Amino acid sequence: MTDAGPANMAASEGIDFGAGQSRMELKNVSKGYGEEWEFDQVLGNLSLEVEAGMLTVVVGPSGCGKSTLVNLIAGFETPDTGTILLDGSEVTGPGKERMVVFQETALMPWQTTYENIVFGPKLRGDYQGGNLEAEAVKLIEKVGLADFKDKYPLQLSGGMQRRAELARALINEPRIMIMDEPFRGLDAMSRELMQEFFLKIFEENRRTQIFVTSEIDEAIFLADRLVVLSNKPAEVRTVIDIDLPRPRDFKMMSSPEAYRYKSEAMEILHEEAMKSFSDSASASGFMEVYAKTGD
Ligand SMILES: Nc1ncnc2c1ncn2[C@@H]1O[C@H](COP(=O)(O)OP(=O)(O)O)[C@@H](O)[C@H]1O
Ligand SMILES: [Mg+2]
Repeated sequence: MTDAGPANMAASEGIDFGAGQSRMELKNVSKGYGEEWEFDQVLGNLSLEVEAGMLTVVVGPSGCGKSTLVNLIAGFETPDTGTILLDGSEVTGPGKERMVVFQETALMPWQTTYENIVFGPKLRGDYQGGNLEAEAVKLIEKVGLADFKDKYPLQLSGGMQRRAELARALINEPRIMIMDEPFRGLDAMSRELMQEFFLKIFEENRRTQIFVTSEIDEAIFLADRLVVLSNKPAEVRTVIDIDLPRPRDFKMMSSPEAYRYKSEAMEILHEEAMKSFSDSASASGFMEVYAKTGD
């Protein structure tokens, strides 16, 4: 973990948060599935700049193409048109410099927390960060799982499993982290705790981060920049800079600024849902976002 000191200082001091961090650029990316008559255009003409050292949150109704976007960035799939660049180099396949954490747990049930975390680097035999064992233990402590180091995934709560996954991704020291609705399905309390944990880790060294969610409060609480997607075929509808101070605190969510960001984003999501309300999948996606806003 590098640069913890300067990265924690205030933005107003003019320090470049992005120094030494990676940036990603998506240029005119489109993606569809299926043959001719049943062709389904999922991503339209999506362009996006993911700034170095920033936490970019992507929000959109379910079914709009967020996971498709994540799969392209991860290199699991290739775009039909357009390019994805990490620090200027084109993404052509999966790579450990881009780590993805999905909502579904990917921990191996027959391995302990510790074994799960060291598994990837051990398998590849390419760990370069010094002592792998010591680094894994440090990370386990950082995500609050010191007492669960030798437990198996099924012995962990949902929230603990997500934290173990976070550590498992971080051990690879990726240049960019991508998370796809990682806290979905957790109860409200665990979800808040996870958001705090996750922010603490992000704010410590500001590794470039893409975080995908369909929950607007979560989006605003976490984001430096909030990218609001249109309905399918997804394009970037707007980007809102979230100027809430860091470190973040849940109390900030009741500030007038937070309320303003939320109304702005909700208005666009509402418009997008209305455009294709006949499409039941989009409508239910919208309702899901809407139902979670809480007021
Ligand atoms: N591998 C695939 N084959 C066919 N259709 C797909 C595939 N992956 C996603 N889709 C379609 O793309 C659309 C968007 O899905 P997805 O990216 O999972 O949305 P989100 O993550 O925003 O909920 C859906 O209509 C889905 O059916
Ligand atoms: Mg998804």
